[in-house]
Amino acid sequence: MSGGARHLYVHLPFCAHRCGYCDFVTVVGRGPQHGAYVDALLAELELERGLLALELETVFLGGGTPTFTEPRALERLLAALPPNVDEMTVEANPETVTQELARMLRRLGVNRVSLGVQSFRPHLLDVLERVAQADTVRRAFYHLRDAGFDNVSFDLIYGIPGQSASDLDADLGDALELAPEHLSCYELEAKPGTRFTHAHGAELARQAEAMESYFELVVARLTSAGYRWYETANFCRAPERAASRDLRAKHNLAYWLGRDYLGLGVGAVSTIEGRRWRNTPRLSAYVQALEHGTQPEREVEPLPVDVRRRERLMLGLRLDEPVGLAELDGVVDADALARLRQLGLVRSELDGAGERTLALTVRGRFLGGGVTADLLSEIR
Ligand SMILES: C[S@@+](CC[C@H](N)C(=O)[O-])C[C@H]1O[C@@H](n2cnc3c(N)ncnc32)[C@H](O)[C@@H]1O
Ligand code: SF4
Repeated sequence: MSGGARHLYVHLPFCAHRCGYCDFVTVVGRGPQHGAYVDALLAELELERGLLALELETVFLGGGTPTFTEPRALERLLAALPPNVDEMTVEANPETVTQELARMLRRLGVNRVSLGVQSFRPHLLDVLERVAQADTVRRAFYHLRDAGFDNVSFDLIYGIPGQSASDLDADLGDALELAPEHLSCYELEAKPGTRFTHAHGAELARQAEAMESYFELVVARLTSAGYRWYETANFCRAPERAASRDLRAKHNLAYWLGRDYLGLGVGAVSTIEGRRWRNTPRLSAYVQALEHGTQPEREVEPLPVDVRRRERLMLGLRLDEPVGLAELDGVVDADALARLRQLGLVRSELDGAGERTLALTVRGRFLGGGVTADLLSEIR
C-alpha cells in the first residue's frame, strides 16, 4: 500500500474510577499529568506523521475516558489533530458530558460521540460500578443534541450479573426511545482471575447460558425498530430512516475491512504495511520516551499475507456485506465451505462483476465465530 494510513486512533487512558469488568489500558485520576500526556501524543503524531495520508478519513479518540481528560489538554489535542476528516469520534462517559463539553467537542470538529451507556437499570449499573444513572445518560444525550450532534452512538452491555431477559428488553426500549443513530451491544466479557469474576462467578456462569437468547433478543428488537444489523455487535439507523446517510461506524469499518491504521498513545495498536505494533501500556515509560523525542517501547509483529487473509475472513464475515473470495485465497477450506452451504450457514454467490463472494446467512451470523473457525483451512 502507498499513500499512508487514512485512519487514526488516539488513546486517552484516564478515568475517574476503574470499573471492575474493564480490561482496557486505563489509569485513575492523574489530573496533573494530563497535559504532559497530550504533549507526548502530539510528539508521537509528529514522529509518525509520515505514515499517515495527507487527508484522513477517520479519527477516533478512545479510552479510558477521553472526556475525563483535563478540558484544556483535551482542547489542545483536538485543535492539533488533522482537520477535515469525514468522521471524528470521541468516546464519552455520560457523567462527563456537560453543555460546555458538548459545545467544545463540536467546535473542534468532532462530529460523532460514542456514549458509554451500558445499561439503564440501576441494579445493573451498580454491579458494573458505573457512575452514570439513566437520567445522566438522557441529560448527556440532550446536551449532545443541543450542541448539534446528529451522530450519537450508545454502547450497551448484556449478560451482566443479575440481568434478566426483561431487563435487557427494557434497556433496549430505553435506548430506542432516544433514537441514537448507532448502537453497539456487547456481551459482557469477564476475565478469569479478576476481582469482578471472583465476586460474580456463579452468576456469570448463569448469564453465559442465556447469552445466545440475549443476542437473538438484541437483534430482533433493534432490527424490528428499523436498525441495520451491519456487524455482529453493531447496528445503525437504516438509510430510509436516516435521510440516506450511511451511519455505520466508519472508523471501526476500516478495522473490519482490514485497512491500515495508526494508533497513538499508551497501549495503542497500529497496523501498517504488513506490520502490527503495540505501544507500551506503561504511562510513565510512554511519556518519558516521547519527552526524549524517541518512539515508545513497542511489541512488533509481522503480518504475513496468509495471516492478513485469515483476519480478513474472520473480521469480514462479521459484516452484512459479502467478502470477495479472491481476497481469501488459500485460507478457505473448500470441504467446510460446501458443508456449511449445505447447512444454510454460508452464502457463496457471484457479485455484479462476476466475482465469487462469501457471506454468512442470518443463521450463520448468530453462530458467528464457530462458523468462521470451521471455514478456515488448517495452517500449513
Ligand atoms: C473502551 S470502553 C471505554 C468507554 C468509556 N470509558 C465507558 O466506560 O463508557 C468502550 C466500550 O467497551 C465496552 N466494554 C468495556 N469493557 C467490556 C467488557 N468487559 N465486556 C464487554 N464490553 C466491554 C463498553 O460498552 C464500553 O463502553
Ligand atoms: S470508565 Fe470505561 S474505560 Fe474507564 S474503567 Fe470504566 S469501563 Fe474502563
